[in-house]
Order: sequence, then structure tokens, then C-alpha cells
Amino acid sequence: MQLKSITYKVGQLLYDAKIYDGMNTDMSDLEFYKKWLSPDNNAKILELCCGTGRLTIPLAKANLNITGLDITETMLTEAKKKAKEAQLDIDFKLGDMRDFQLDDQFDIIFIPFNSIHHLYSNSDLFKTFQSVKKHLKENGIFIFDCFNPNIQFIAESGTHLKEISNYQTDDGRVIKIKEIMTYESDSQINRIDWHYYINGQFDSVQNLDMRMYFPQELDAYLNWNGFRIAHKFGNFKEEKFTKDSDKQIFVCKLKNH
Ligand SMILES: C[S@@+](CC[C@H](N)C(=O)[O-])C[C@H]1O[C@@H](n2cnc3c(N)ncnc32)[C@H](O)[C@@H]1O
Repeated sequence: MQLKSITYKVGQLLYDAKIYDGMNTDMSDLEFYKKWLSPDNNAKILELCCGTGRLTIPLAKANLNITGLDITETMLTEAKKKAKEAQLDIDFKLGDMRDFQLDDQFDIIFIPFNSIHHLYSNSDLFKTFQSVKKHLKENGIFIFDCFNPNIQFIAESGTHLKEISNYQTDDGRVIKIKEIMTYESDSQINRIDWHYYINGQFDSVQNLDMRMYFPQELDAYLNWNGFRIAHKFGNFKEEKFTKDSDKQIFVCKLKNH
């Protein structure tokens, strides 16, 4: 069946690098990634959707050999600036996780911070899995995290605007964000509207559309695409995935490895 529309949008302010960094200061995933990405320090690592380097920079500081790839040029510009300031030599690539060619293979590829929710159709997800496979060494590891969709939460968040963030950016803007969401049950896209107020003035409504991935479908999709799930955690403390888990965190190998 062809869905009538998988049109989607991510508003520009979402990935305005300074606004992004001011909001995303929670680093509770760093220790988890540090542990899983360091089986030995010579491992070649690729981070897909590296953004402004929130994880890339501290991981490179921990001596990991990491390359970052992202589709948004302004996010990469900020990542490169931070790397330069920290005197780190990180290879940042502009590219699309669905279809990239790096002429290289990696020991570990990871997609952190819920970024697969930007893959809106199964075909985009499968293209990404195939691109990962192409760039993964035989014994390689593929790791990613995303939400465990909470339909009750989404339904309750569709009734009224709720303030979710209030902070000042590095470049001096005071940002307030209010959120409301609507779940579209044919495409499985959660249409999230963020209402931005900058320096006390309403600025705009920005879309943050997120494709929801249900646990059983993700398990099956990984299997169909040639991956074996070595671990599935429900949070970054590595507790087992259960019905109450907020997150789905996958550590995968290629099948037969
Ligand atoms: C939630 S942010 C995560 C950024 C960073 N990994 C972090 O932990 O802060 C999602 C990132 O995915 C990038 N992105 C979205 N679609 C992409 C695609 N098809 N290919 C590569 N990057 C993409 C965005 O530009 C954005 O930087």
C-alpha cells in the first residue's frame, strides 16, 4: 500500500546550531557510548547524524578514532569549530545516512540521540541499514538508540501547548519553546510543533516530525536487513528492554557473526 503522504519537515530553528546546543545539554548517553565504542582504541568509528559534535567531540577527546557525518551544513560548521578549539583532528563529512559513499569500512557505526526518527519511511530506514552494512567490517558493531513510542504520552501532549524549554544561547538569545503534538496513525509520524519565543517575542512554529518505530517492527526490520541483535537495552544504564522502557537501544552485529 502506498501511503498518501510521507511529506515531513524539520523546521530550521531546530538545527540552528546555537539553539540546538543550548537546549541539548543532557549528556546521560555519553558514558554508554564511550564504553561501547572503546573495545580497543584503534577501532575506526563512524557516527551518523553527528550534528554539532555533542558526542563526537568528547569521544575524540577520549582518544577514539571517530569520523562524523551529517546532512545539515550549519551543524557541521559548529562541530568543526568546536573541534578546532579543542585542537582535535576530526574528519567531518557532509552526507545523507540513507546513501553515503566513504570508500572506507569501520569497526563500529552508530546513530545516536534518536536520529533515526528522521527516517520517515521504511524505504529510508532500509536504505540506511544497507548503507551501514556496506561500510561495516565483517566483525563490526552497529549501535543506535531511539524512543519506545508511548502512545498515551503522545495523546496527552496533543491537548494543549506545554512549555518544554527555557534557556539562553551562547550568542545571547533567550529561547522559550512550547510543544504540542499530533500522532498520524497511517504514517506513524508524530507531528510535533515547537512554538519558539526569542527574547520574549513569539518567533515561529517549527516542525519536528518524528517517525515512531515500534519495538517488534524494529526487531524484524533489523533481522530482514541482515543484522543480529546482540543486546537490546531499555535505557543507558543497560537495563533490559521492557514495556516500561523509555528507550530502545540496539547493539547489533552482522548475521552469522
Ligand atoms: C537529534 S540530532 C542529533 C545530533 C547529534 N548526534 C547529537 O547527539 O547531538 C539529529 C541530527 O541528524 C541529522 N540528520 C537528519 N537527517 C539526516 C540524514 N538523512 N542523514 C544525515 N544526517 C541527518 C540532523 O542534521 C541533526 O544534526
